[in-house]
Amino acid sequence: MNCCVAGLQWGDEGKGKVVDILAEKSDIVVRYGGGANAGHTVIIDDNRFALHLMPSGAVRPGTVCVIANGVVVDPGVLLEEIDGLAEKGISMEGRLLISENAHVVLDYHKREDRLREESLGKHKIGTTARGIGPCYADKVGRCYAVRMADLRNPAALREKLEDIVAYKNKLFAALYNAAPMDAGEIFETCCRWSEALSGHIVNTTEYLFSALDAKKNILFEGAQGALLDLDHGTFPYVTSSNASTLGLGPGCGVSATAVDVFLGVVKAYTTRVGAGPFPTEQDNEIGQWIRDRGHEYGTTTGRPRRCGWFDAVAVRFTARLGGIHQIAMMHLDTLAGLKELKICRTYRIDGKETTFFPGDAGRLSRAECVYETVAGWSEDLTRIERYADLPDAVKTYVAMVERLVGVPVTLLGVGPKRTQIIYRD
Ligand code: IMP
Repeated sequence: MNCCVAGLQWGDEGKGKVVDILAEKSDIVVRYGGGANAGHTVIIDDNRFALHLMPSGAVRPGTVCVIANGVVVDPGVLLEEIDGLAEKGISMEGRLLISENAHVVLDYHKREDRLREESLGKHKIGTTARGIGPCYADKVGRCYAVRMADLRNPAALREKLEDIVAYKNKLFAALYNAAPMDAGEIFETCCRWSEALSGHIVNTTEYLFSALDAKKNILFEGAQGALLDLDHGTFPYVTSSNASTLGLGPGCGVSATAVDVFLGVVKAYTTRVGAGPFPTEQDNEIGQWIRDRGHEYGTTTGRPRRCGWFDAVAVRFTARLGGIHQIAMMHLDTLAGLKELKICRTYRIDGKETTFFPGDAGRLSRAECVYETVAGWSEDLTRIERYADLPDAVKTYVAMVERLVGVPVTLLGVGPKRTQIIYRD
């Protein structure tokens, strides 16, 4: 069976844990978009793995991990992750494949990300500063792009980097009055990466087509969340890739028709990092309470996440967009202790009620939420193993989400560990 797992909110929904669980029955796990801006956490016994580029299936030693063409790869981060896993006794030898068509994030991309954000002042996007936007921009622009395949041909790469760095130096000096960069230094770093990673660089589309023919079980792992999708999210406060399941085809060459189940992941509430509208945000003691209980601080940047109520208008939209068959609802345990809980049912925008999520950030920032209110629960859920044993208030909450979103919730997260998950049916 082939399954695609993707976030339905603004990222950080708990996809890492869901992918880790599903990877047990998968032969291959594929990352198809984003880059080191992602932060997927997997907790096994007392070991905490925070992965940014490596597919979360990496922690299962028998699983092949594919970083497909849609990912922007920062080889420095990837090598740190390979070493970090090796220190914990997990080898990636012979089971990590990186697409030759994936684009490389270089130092000048990260520099540009930081310089541009600084220059934007109060209009900044609040990026992770991992060079994601500038690298995707070079991909689309074509003339100044470096792909993983280029790491295999040092002579041509040297020439290419000289041209690119000369161009970037002119640009950065004119726009940001920045000091020039040295193409030679960047080239030397690339040579180190080439030595360490060349053996992993292949045509991943060809590999995946053969795997599909051989009826392997493939798990596709989305990064970020659908509300950060470049085309359908809250533009311009989005990431620079198609972070919804719509990124699957362009991101790895596999058609959506090859996928049996699209599984959307949500938190039982909502979080967002960076700027942009967030209709259900609770910038008050409730938001702080959720942040403290849920340890809502970014895996990649450590920034405090903005927290708020579950937004069924947004998730109904992203579930439809992603062709979602089932939902995994994570962090239900975090909400224990609140007297009542709210779920946003509709928006009121410019005096009119609407059930449709407006992608436009301006319109969305004028949305007032119309809420359903349900009773909370105080019980500790972290030791519960069966759906039947959950408090009635939890079941009512889940049923309300299912009714408003129109998709069944089949997995429920009740704690950070691999084992703290409840399967329904
Ligand atoms: P970028 O992807 O670094 O360009 O950041 C663009 C926006 O996406 C910012 O608001 C980031 O906070 C957000 N973002 C990027 N990656 C993630 C993620 O993995 N989780 C949550 N937010 C993210």
